[in-house]
Amino acid sequence: MGGILNMDDIYIGLGATGERQVLRLDRANRHGLVAGATGTGKTVTLQGMAEQFSARGVPVFLADVKGDLSGIGMPGSPTFKHADAIEARAKQLGIDPFTYADNPVVFWDLYGEAGHPIRTTISEMGPLLLARLMGLNETQEGVLNIAFRYADDNGLLLLDLADLQATLMACAQNAGELAAKYGNVSKASVGTIQRQLLAFESQGADRFFGEPAFEINDFIKIDDQGRGFVNVLSAEKLMQSPKLYATFLLWLLSELFEALPEVGDPEKPKLVFFFDEAHLLFDDAPEALFDKVEQVVRLIRSKGVGVYFVSQNPIDIPEKIAGQLGNRVQHALRAFTPRDQKAIKAAAETFRINPDLDVGKVITELKVGEALVSTLDADGAPGIVQRTLVAPPRSRLGPLDAKERAVIQSISPFDGKYDAAVNRESAAEVLAQKAADAAAAAQQVEAEGAAAQQASARQTPSMWGKAGKAAVGAIAASAGSVIAAEIMGKKSRASPIESGASAIVGTIATQIGGAAFGRFARGLLGGLLR
Ligand SMILES: Nc1ncnc2c1ncn2[C@@H]1O[C@H](COP(=O)(O)OP(=O)(O)O)[C@@H](O)[C@H]1O
Ligand SMILES: [Mg+2]
Repeated sequence: MGGILNMDDIYIGLGATGERQVLRLDRANRHGLVAGATGTGKTVTLQGMAEQFSARGVPVFLADVKGDLSGIGMPGSPTFKHADAIEARAKQLGIDPFTYADNPVVFWDLYGEAGHPIRTTISEMGPLLLARLMGLNETQEGVLNIAFRYADDNGLLLLDLADLQATLMACAQNAGELAAKYGNVSKASVGTIQRQLLAFESQGADRFFGEPAFEINDFIKIDDQGRGFVNVLSAEKLMQSPKLYATFLLWLLSELFEALPEVGDPEKPKLVFFFDEAHLLFDDAPEALFDKVEQVVRLIRSKGVGVYFVSQNPIDIPEKIAGQLGNRVQHALRAFTPRDQKAIKAAAETFRINPDLDVGKVITELKVGEALVSTLDADGAPGIVQRTLVAPPRSRLGPLDAKERAVIQSISPFDGKYDAAVNRESAAEVLAQKAADAAAAAQQVEAEGAAAQQASARQTPSMWGKAGKAAVGAIAASAGSVIAAEIMGKKSRASPIESGASAIVGTIATQIGGAAFGRFARGLLGGLLR
């Protein structure tokens, strides 16, 4: 195509030297940072980049923190409220004719209110992220780990919060036996975790755990015109639970890492992620988690995923991670406090020196919609920083109304796929049934004697078989899942496949009524009988 808007790259804007400032598509997986004080143009910059990715066939994920990004699904309009600023800027940059355009959008919402719900299972989330989510200390995290291992070893599926609750309870009741095999399960720790789980539930997090579980490939869709879908996560409500927001985004990254094949540096990214209010990811995160984020961000690059952090203050992003953000758009910063000064200094130091530009000074003078831009060149080296007028988006600046949103959602390719929750048999149901069976068995022993009870059939012979089948269907194992398991501390040894297998062993044992089943079930029944 050529010209100002070029299908080969992402046009960020016009440099003060008169050169196009662009983000190369083949370097877009080297991550980026959009920073600047409130009202300086970060969201507009993000929107402009996102819609160009979409137009170039790259799917996008973005978290809509203030509800103002939903407009990306509609064309802008000369009568809409920011039209003056937008059209003036287009003129300034020589974009002529300037045409408004929409983007294919799918809305998602953890709470299922403003978009398709996104759910995952407890076991997919894994103990590490869950511990972070609940703010557990080391001892409590240890107990959570034991609960996961216990579930794995006993073929119990951990799908929703109820499953985790039931498993924790079983662990507490079997603490004596578990101590030798797994370690100490203190009642106090279990109590703390259970209280946290209840607190979560009251925040609506229970809706996030369960099925149908989200399939990450649904974020990587192209429409019939070859445009990448823009996945907009409604994060307004989610932001009120910053830990859930942060944990969720990390989980998404780890899922992506798991699902995508290694591609090195592709011609264009497979998916681009924008994390608004990115500092929330790092606020009082424990060191261990920190390292995981760093690792995931570093490794996901070669899967062709570009991660763009959007933040008011560049020093909110830990250095280790900031060092990996090759493409930078720095909007104005204020210089009021010592912390402001520090941020300016830090931002200035990350740029490759431009002898004609006093970066530290210019940062405070940038106008709205103006930024210092430095992107990676063909060799992967940072380009010289340029003062840049940022190009205006062609989609609407500002939110959709409820009707517009509903219309867009009604044509979503995922209409009906995720909207209704299903609750299949998993740990909570299995444990409840086992408890009922155990009680029945105890009654029978009392009434008819032990011999008669042993001779009678198990109450629920198909239970483990069902759990086993369910587990096998839960996930397809991949090499990526093993690595992701290591990085994110997810179930590794006991993958659902494996716990499915042990559940099947349980079925066979149940059928033959052998000693193996006795051993297998003892831990479970032992405590429940008391
Ligand atoms: N590139 C731009 N061209 C024209 N106007 C812009 C541009 N960037 C920002 N603006 C104007 O500034 C306002 C605030 O920008 P916004 O991106 O919401 O700031 P931030 O996200 O940093 O708080 C926008 O509503 C728009 O009117
Ligand atoms: Mg903003």
